[in-house]
Amino acid sequence: MVLLRIPGARLQLSSMIPSRGEPPKNRNRGTPGILLKLFQVALYIPIQVAFIPLVIVGLVDAIFKEIIIGRRLDVSFTAIKALQYRWIMHYFDNRPDPISVAFTKKLPCESHYGLWSTFGALIISQRLFGLTTTFGRVAEPGKETPVSTAGSRVLMFDAIVEKYVDDVEQIVIPGAGFDLVALHFTKAKNTAVFELDQTGTLQVKLETLKKAGIAHDWITYVPVDYSTESWTEKLLAAGFDKTKKTLFLWQSVSLFLEAGTVKKTLREMAGLCPGGSIIAQDLYSKAFISGETSRIVKRSLRMLDKMGEPWRFGVDMSDDPESAVESFLEECGLRMTEYFQFGEKLGIEPIYCVVEAETLDHV
Ligand SMILES: C[S@@+](CC[C@H](N)C(=O)[O-])C[C@H]1O[C@@H](n2cnc3c(N)ncnc32)[C@H](O)[C@@H]1O
Repeated sequence: MVLLRIPGARLQLSSMIPSRGEPPKNRNRGTPGILLKLFQVALYIPIQVAFIPLVIVGLVDAIFKEIIIGRRLDVSFTAIKALQYRWIMHYFDNRPDPISVAFTKKLPCESHYGLWSTFGALIISQRLFGLTTTFGRVAEPGKETPVSTAGSRVLMFDAIVEKYVDDVEQIVIPGAGFDLVALHFTKAKNTAVFELDQTGTLQVKLETLKKAGIAHDWITYVPVDYSTESWTEKLLAAGFDKTKKTLFLWQSVSLFLEAGTVKKTLREMAGLCPGGSIIAQDLYSKAFISGETSRIVKRSLRMLDKMGEPWRFGVDMSDDPESAVESFLEECGLRMTEYFQFGEKLGIEPIYCVVEAETLDHV
């Protein structure tokens, strides 16, 4: 099995996402390093103190928008959180993403000001005198931990889209949420793009794109709840062509669905397009989604439960995770072609993987 290796995650970014140069590296090792770090922290503290009143106002604004307005508009809370991560990556110089920033500014259920006031002192400190924190770093491939999967995941999916965009005729993003990856990579390409998500989330996405003046007219948005409706019927009605080679991007969605729905959806993807089409997705381990691998994850789980989006689906990766994932995909009529296991080099309990699988020729 070929492992999907991303030697330096930033190098995989498309030239369409302009690079801003390397983020500051943490070279604070040894005594001079410790002194430098102390000096940076000493400079950071007064900046953070000055930010405190702004943080209080910002947090109130953010909580009101994300929770109260988000619920009122029937928007997925986890879609807001995933967008937030892209905002953070932009400002901490890990992944330039001006489109997500422009989108966040106009999104009614997120507070750009709230994010700035919360992270502003750290952003300024990184830019002015190189203070690095976990926000300014993307884990080295294979050294991801339960709390550092998001940044690596986003960069990997960028790399996957970049790899296939000229090779496929259609891209389908089920559960696209507020991910704007298609806007980065498919503009002026000859690729049909379909984004699927629940009605409330998609409606807010479309309105926000319009308000932000972000062109998106080559993308077809298909509202559907695939727990209760036939997403294949809706996709076909929206113009999806079964004869065309397709890339499915299923990022950070399966964990919110029941096991039966995940399997059914993958089988439907496998049967919907010609052999050699690709399904790229991430899969969490059962241990990860139960919260037993990290206290921080356990706390997030409680929050997600309260927001009505509990984690439901994980693969048992406790013994030979690669084979477990491969046979799970086989059960769904797919052939695994790439496998990347997060945290592999740390010797920790398997938590998460990103995989690519090929659809087979229909007999
Ligand atoms: C964590 S977000 C990920 C969004 C996006 N893929 C990304 O990476 O930013 C999960 C998304 O799955 C969508 N989703 C969850 N259950 C769904 C369902 N039954 N039908 C349609 N979409 C669903 C949510 O609305 C949300 O946008």
